[in-house]
Parts: sequence; structure tokens; C-alpha cells
Amino acid sequence: MIRLGVNIDHVATLRQARRAHEPDPVAAAVLALLGGADGITVHLREDRRHIQERDVRLLRQVVTNRLNLEMAAIPAIADFACEVKPDEATLVPEKREELTTEGGLDAVAHEKAVERIVKQLHTAGIEVSLFLDPDPRQIEIAHILKVRAVEIQTARYSEARTPTERQRERDALIQAAEFARERGLHVHMGHGLNYENVRAVAAISCVEELNIGHSIVARSTLVGMTQAVRDMKDAIRRAKGL
Ligand code: PXP
Repeated sequence: MIRLGVNIDHVATLRQARRAHEPDPVAAAVLALLGGADGITVHLREDRRHIQERDVRLLRQVVTNRLNLEMAAIPAIADFACEVKPDEATLVPEKREELTTEGGLDAVAHEKAVERIVKQLHTAGIEVSLFLDPDPRQIEIAHILKVRAVEIQTARYSEARTPTERQRERDALIQAAEFARERGLHVHMGHGLNYENVRAVAAISCVEELNIGHSIVARSTLVGMTQAVRDMKDAIRRAKGL
């Protein structure tokens, strides 16, 4: 069964809209775990627009299955990660003006900087995943840097407007996943997945983990976090014919 990492950043976005104490992403994490989340994912952004350091520290105590910290490959955040020790760190690109992570990390262009951060995280015993476009040149760097996993970004697939375009983007995901698997990398996917488009991605054979945030948090405002996570688990299960 594919693991579901639930990204709860946008629970914190709602809290930060009023600089208030609620809703608390830590409470959301507990409810997501009750709904069957296999792990919790949060992105500590440089501008702290949603998740705060306090959240990550508390989540480290509450999330006993798998805490995945998305982070830019920069020393200040790496130092924080090494102190808090999530189970996994996923290195993502970060631009202050973007609404959400746009595209994968350019590991080819920034190989040396990424390598330094990967080594620091590995020394602290943290598993590393690189968030990459479905591009063999990028995945090859993940292999060279000996990280455990790649998270192949599904934004282009999610945003495809026509069935032909969607098929082409799905084929690119399949090829990238196979390329990664052949090199011994664990394969994760995420970005822009929802209750509909998740099925065709979950059906790809070597995908082990999906990280999904916006659509689950959006549904949770209407039906509650536990139910929203259960519904996503069901959608993934159905894709696998289970
Ligand atoms: N994976 C990564 C690396 C991300 O940066 C994000 C967005 O924070 C997600 C998955 C989740 O994307 P979405 O919120 O569109 O489900």
C-alpha cells in the first residue's frame, strides 16, 4: 500500500492569517493520524508564512510514524533540521514571491550546495529526499548524492488541461519513476494531487509515497481532517484495486 504523507501547511496558513493561536497544525496532525495518515509533512519556509519553528518542534513529539520536513537547501534551516531531527527532510526550491513550490529543485545547477546540505543532514541521521522534476538528469544527481528518495513533482500532470496532455505528463512520471527505481532510489510523488487525479498517479507501480496538502486541508474545512484523510486513503486504495 502506498504511504500517504499529509501536508498540513495550510492549517497554519489559516492561523497566520490572523496571527492567532488557532487552528493549531499540531491538532490537525493528530486528527490526520487518526484518519490513517502514514506521516505528516510540513514546509518550514524561510519567510515563515505558515509553519513556525514551534510547530515543527511539537510535531516532532507528536508524530511518531514519520515526520517529513520540506526545506530549502540553506544552512540556517538545515541547522534547525539537525536539531529537531525529522525522520526525513525533503529539499525543495523556494522563492519568496511564489504561492506554492513551483517546479522541482534544480539539483544539476546547485549540485555543490545541495551536496553540502545533504551531507549535513545525513550526518545528523536524517533521511533525505529531493523534490525534482520528472527529468533523468535531475534524478541522476539524487543517485550521485546517495539520498534515499526522490519526490517527483506532479504539478505538470495535475495542471494538464487535455487528456492527451495529461497522458503525456503521466508517461513522464512513469519513466522518471522507473529511472529512479533502477538506481535504487525510493520513489515519492506530490504536488497538486486531489481526490480525482490521485488515482492515475497511485496506480503507477513503483510509487511508494504520496505527499498531499491543499486538497486534503480544503476538504477538512468541510468534513473534518480525519474524514478528509480517510477519503484520500480510500481513493488511493481504489486506484490499487484494493
Ligand atoms: N510535495 C512538495 C515537495 C511540496 O512542496 C508540496 C506543497 O507544499 C506538496 C508536496 C503538496 O502539494 P499540494 O499542497 O498541492 O498537495
